[in-house]
Amino acid sequence: MPQPTAGVQLYQGKAKTVTLNDAQTVNLFFKDDVTAFNAQKHRVIPGKGCINSRISEVLFIYLRSVGISNHYLKRIDPATLQCQRAEMLPLEVVVRFVTAGSLVKRTGLPPLSPCDPPVIEFYYKRDDLGDPIVNSDHIRLLNLASVEDVAHLSAQALKTAGALHRLCGRAGLNLIDIKFEYGRHNGALILADEISPDSCRLHDRKTGRILDKDLFRRDLGDLLDGYNEVLSRLQSALLEESP
Ligand code: TMP
Ligand code: ASP
Repeated sequence: MPQPTAGVQLYQGKAKTVTLNDAQTVNLFFKDDVTAFNAQKHRVIPGKGCINSRISEVLFIYLRSVGISNHYLKRIDPATLQCQRAEMLPLEVVVRFVTAGSLVKRTGLPPLSPCDPPVIEFYYKRDDLGDPIVNSDHIRLLNLASVEDVAHLSAQALKTAGALHRLCGRAGLNLIDIKFEYGRHNGALILADEISPDSCRLHDRKTGRILDKDLFRRDLGDLLDGYNEVLSRLQSALLEESP
């Protein structure tokens, strides 16, 4: 079973462990744990950490190639990526192209209604509060980020989600919604954490087959089958593009 690299542990999350490598870099270990509903539902799925680390790596490399900087540096082992150290903001930035999940619950709109232009939301990462949705006034009140930072995060998240939406389209995947997390590195905000089917919704463009963590959340099928399909489709789409 893969284990986190040795060293000072900076963060123990539900699906990741972050250890310090040196003053400027960290090792991001992707666990086989999968959780939902604030960890009320939990399972260990051997192989899930390796595949999510691979999907994240592929997407971070792709984003850098289209001019979107991020914390990824290199692979350490099958479940671990070395990344730039960043002071994480306790915020999740969600971009939605189509209604699903909590947006359907909050608005009563039918599932899979287009959001045009995409909807951007912020959530405050506080397990004890159940990660509530917050607006820019709340973010300023809580002193989490400045008004300028919020504008910058919205623009960056929209641009990044747009690039991923186009890539997914070429892979025959419909990116429904996606969550990003950011940290400060040398004073600047940088895209960090992971980008995987744990943190987005992806459906087959033709059949509508669900290929993301909703497989686990809603007991819809085999999670690894879905994630492996996502990885191989992304790899094929990227291969077709390379010169
Ligand atoms: P939601 O519809 O449940 O609010 O989820 C929106 C997106 O954010 C979806 O792609 C899943 C992702 N997400 C996370 O990455 N972590 C979380 O804790 C939650 C609730 C959602
Ligand atoms: N990651 C969250 C949790 O376990 C929720 C989710 O992704 O649905 O708690």
